Amino acid sequence: MDLYQPETIHVNGEKFRVYLTHEEIQQRIKQLGNQISKDLKDKRPIFIGVLNGAYIFLADLMRYVSIPCEVDFLKLSSYGDEKVSSGQVQDLKEINAHIKGRHVILVEDIIDTGLSMKYLVEKLKRLEPASLSVATMLHKTEATKHEVQIDYVGFKIPNLFVLGYGLDYAQEGRNLAQIYILEE
Ligand code: IMP
Ligand code: MG
Repeated sequence: MDLYQPETIHVNGEKFRVYLTHEEIQQRIKQLGNQISKDLKDKRPIFIGVLNGAYIFLADLMRYVSIPCEVDFLKLSSYGDEKVSSGQVQDLKEINAHIKGRHVILVEDIIDTGLSMKYLVEKLKRLEPASLSVATMLHKTEATKHEVQIDYVGFKIPNLFVLGYGLDYAQEGRNLAQIYILEE
């Protein structure tokens, strides 16, 4: 069976088309992995993935990182099944790792308004890591209202709803191998 990557897909009654292909995504993640390997050489970083959306990006990113590293996860909820943010962030799962004095890389699928990331950066900084950097596969630059410093960005994208490659719409579409954008 091949990767699941149709040209278009209907989810929740709306039509999406391919925006970033599997090859484009892999090429870019390879560059990010190489950069992180250089920047954090000898630092044994710990990646903290934000569930659910970041799990596929993180899985691929870590395999392009060629230095010793660790991983842990936390889970937030803010969207429900809608296409726009509820404007509220809720903790659904905490990390188990001790990050005091560690070099932490927070890994998100997408930064939209920036609310989730701002919340997470403030939350993890209180645990006194040696350094904290932020990696996101996608950044909706025009939508970002909360100021966040982003160290590693896969792709800057327009302010339109996307899915696939870990990102869902009403929990569907995460298994798509490419990134799809809503047809206007
Ligand atoms: P923010 O707090 O507004 O930056 O929203 C970040 C979170 O909303 C991400 O972690 C995603 O889970 C979700 N999200 C934002 N935009 C999209 C999208 O276009 N498709 C799927 N999920 C999205
Ligand atoms: Mg998310």
